[in-house]
Amino acid sequence: VKQKLNRYNELEMFTNVFEGDCMYKGVWNKEFFKNEHPIIIELGCGRGEYTVEMASSSSNCNYIGVDIKGARLWRGAKTAYEAGMSNVAFLRVQIEGLCSFFASGELSEIWITFPDPQPSQRRMKKRLTSRRFLESYQLLLKPGGRIHLKTDSADFLNFSKTEILNFNGNVIYYNTNIYEAGLGSEKLNPSQGVVSLIQTSYEKRYLREGTHICYLMASLPAPPANEDR
Ligand SMILES: C[S@@+](CC[C@H](N)C(=O)[O-])C[C@H]1O[C@@H](n2cnc3c(N)ncnc32)[C@H](O)[C@@H]1O
Repeated sequence: VKQKLNRYNELEMFTNVFEGDCMYKGVWNKEFFKNEHPIIIELGCGRGEYTVEMASSSSNCNYIGVDIKGARLWRGAKTAYEAGMSNVAFLRVQIEGLCSFFASGELSEIWITFPDPQPSQRRMKKRLTSRRFLESYQLLLKPGGRIHLKTDSADFLNFSKTEILNFNGNVIYYNTNIYEAGLGSEKLNPSQGVVSLIQTSYEKRYLREGTHICYLMASLPAPPANEDR
């Protein structure tokens, strides 16, 4: 409990962490990052491993990790803060409210890394690739912007594929065992993008247990023309 409290106190000090009162909707580039580089977000970032590692290898993109759990997010925020990384931020908010923090077309890519699978039918709406979430991603992504999903659950991957296809999205790549397919160490066709080698805490644990790691890349159709963009 004490450690959690210390982390919460420290989070308030970090200049790269924002909460519900964040005012950068529509002006992340201009007011926070102070450049025009693409913005890539990681949903359910936990300790922010993807966010921090992607940001350290691509200084020409901006990265924002989103998670509701402050004590986890603290890890990535501290690393980025201490390293003086100017292309990283963290948002401690519910993903359900994402449209309050980003404007239409403000994002270039969305990574969803090892989301809670929410297997029960009753909690289907909580799955981060269910229709209502896709609707918000569609609005926030630039036309053709990519969604990347990494998960240990083939059921979740299949559910996501079906939801995306029902949404008239394009599933660009789909694989239920990336290491078997050699993708853990190989780049995909450059026109399709790159499967990043970063292994999150969850991925490392699943790999130790022998679980297959699944990956999907998709894009969504442009939002209807009368949508408020
Ligand atoms: C299984 S963990 C994965 C963490 C990290 N991506 C990794 O691979 O190590 C899922 C994370 O998603 C976060 N999360 C789940 N649903 C969320 C929501 N609706 N809003 C914000 N965060 C959420 C949880 O707090 C948790 O940290």
